[in-house]
Parts: sequence; structure tokens; C-alpha cells
Amino acid sequence: MSPSTSALILVSAVLLLSSATTSAYNVTLILEKYPDYTEFNNLLSKTGVADEINRRQTITVFALSNGHFGDISSKKDDVQKRIISTHVVLDYYDVTKLKQYNTSKGPLTTLFQTYGQAKGQQGFLNVVVKEGEVFLSSAVKGASMDTKVESSVASQPYNISILSISSPIVAPGIDGALSPASAKQPNAPSPAGEGPAAAEGPKQEEASAPGPEGDGGATADGSSELSPNANSAAVKQVMSGFGLIAAAASFVAGL
Ligand SMILES: *[C@@H]1O[C@H](CO)[C@@H](O)[C@H](O)[C@H]1NC(C)=O
Ligand SMILES: *[C@@H]1O[C@H](CO)[C@@H](O)[C@H](O)[C@H]1NC(C)=O
Ligand SMILES: *[C@@H]1O[C@H](CO)[C@@H](O)[C@H](O)[C@H]1NC(C)=O
Repeated sequence: MSPSTSALILVSAVLLLSSATTSAYNVTLILEKYPDYTEFNNLLSKTGVADEINRRQTITVFALSNGHFGDISSKKDDVQKRIISTHVVLDYYDVTKLKQYNTSKGPLTTLFQTYGQAKGQQGFLNVVVKEGEVFLSSAVKGASMDTKVESSVASQPYNISILSISSPIVAPGIDGALSPASAKQPNAPSPAGEGPAAAEGPKQEEASAPGPEGDGGATADGSSELSPNANSAAVKQVMSGFGLIAAAASFVAGL
């Protein structure tokens, strides 16, 4: 085998390895099996939220069945994206885990929080368990608590959980006018530093098996900070990825 052929094989192997570790699931493919969720699935794809979900390792999606969108579909594209990303929580929750939700942990952190566009508590969801039923609302003060978690649609413990809900969760003010600059930058770093590097980095291995007490980074005081551990883990992953590529490069150089 010529040195250039083996170099090519090695490089391909490294590329294959890195792409194989980036996605444990494809939310679009999962939801395609459920005809009741075609509209929601289309909305996830259209807004690009599906791709962002697929880049994460532990995710909960609160899905709306066809015909339960209220007036979301009539809103502008960027508003639809903000609303849909508020239905995606950055941790794994099934119905059982939600029923045990300890409110002293503070609200759930959503994907919208990572965009750096959320005002106040718009990027967070409150959970209330009442008579064995789980209710959700925007964490914005005064938001109504009338969205009920109905049942599990699909899950791959502990990577992705898709739960059906009774009505859309629309944070007060989320469809208000944002400055065009911030509206055009879905990946703008949030004040917490959850920038594109962390958001798009390789998956975080240590987050793969949260127990009932697993914490998606929602801080007890509801601040906009994601868990510092999550960020540093992502950085470590990126660094080890570079190490692999550097090792491959020096191997190739030595041929
Ligand atoms: C997920 O599946 C959809 C539909 O087949 C496809 O268009 C998309 O590229 C897939 N995404 C990933 C990350 O593989
Ligand atoms: C909720 O968490 C607080 C603080 O960690 C703890 O003191 C309390 O016992 C927990 N409540 C339940 C019902 O687990
Ligand atoms: C969850 O993700 C991890 C890491 O990507 C993967 O090794 C594991 O197989 C996934 N679990 C399922 C059920 O897909």
C-alpha cells in the first residue's frame, strides 16, 4: 500500500469516527414514525431546531400533535423558531422523572436560552406537579400554567425523550420585536458564554446517564447560566478531538 493510500485511509477513518460520534439519534426520523406529529416535525426541520437537537446528547422535546399549534404557524419564521426552541429542554426527562421534579432545583433550561436572545426568564420553563399530573409554563412571571404533559411519544434513554403536551408554551413577550441584529443570529453567544463552540462541539460523554437527580444546568436561582461543567466538558471534548487530529496529522507527516 502506498503511503498516500494509507494516509487517505487514516484520514477517512478519523473523519468517520468523528461524524459517528456526533449524533446518537435523528429527531426527524424518530418523529416520522408518528403521523400525529407531522406538523411539529416539519416545524422542527423548517426552523433548523431539528439539527440543533441532533447535535445534543441529552434532550427532551415537548411535542404538539397536529392541530394543537394555536396560532404559532401564522407567526414570522424567527418567532416560530424562538417558540419551538422553548419546547426543547437541555436534559433528559421522561414522565416519571418529571413527576419527581423538585422545584428547589429551579426551572428547566431550554434551547432558546442558548441563543442569547431570551429576555428575563423566557429561556426557562417552570414545572408544577399537581395531583400526579405535570404542568409546564414559561418561567416568565405571570405566565399561565395550563400546558399539561400528556404522555411519552418516543424515547431513547437517556439521550432523547419526546413527550406530548396539550398546548403550546409561549413565553410572554417572545413574539415581541427584537432588534434585527439579534434576531438574525441564532448562535450568538449568550451572556453565560454558551457560544457556538460549546453548542456545536462534540457530544458531552459525561452527561449520558443522568439519574433522577440529573441536572441539565438549570440553576437554582434561575439565572441564565448553563452548568459550567457542561461547558468545560464540551471544551475538553473539542480539545481531545484536536489531539486526535494532530496525532493523525503527525502520523501522516511521518509516512
Ligand atoms: C435526519 O433525517 C432527515 C430525514 O431523513 C435528514 O434530512 C437529515 O439530514 C438527518 N440529519 C442527520 C443529522 O443525520
Ligand atoms: C427538594 O430539594 C431540597 C434541597 O435539595 C430538599 O431539601 C428536599 O427534601 C427535596 N424535596 C423532595 C420532595 O425531594
Ligand atoms: C446515547 O448516546 C451515547 C453517546 O452518543 C451513545 O453511546 C448511546 O448508544 C446512546 N443511546 C441510545 C439508546 O441511543
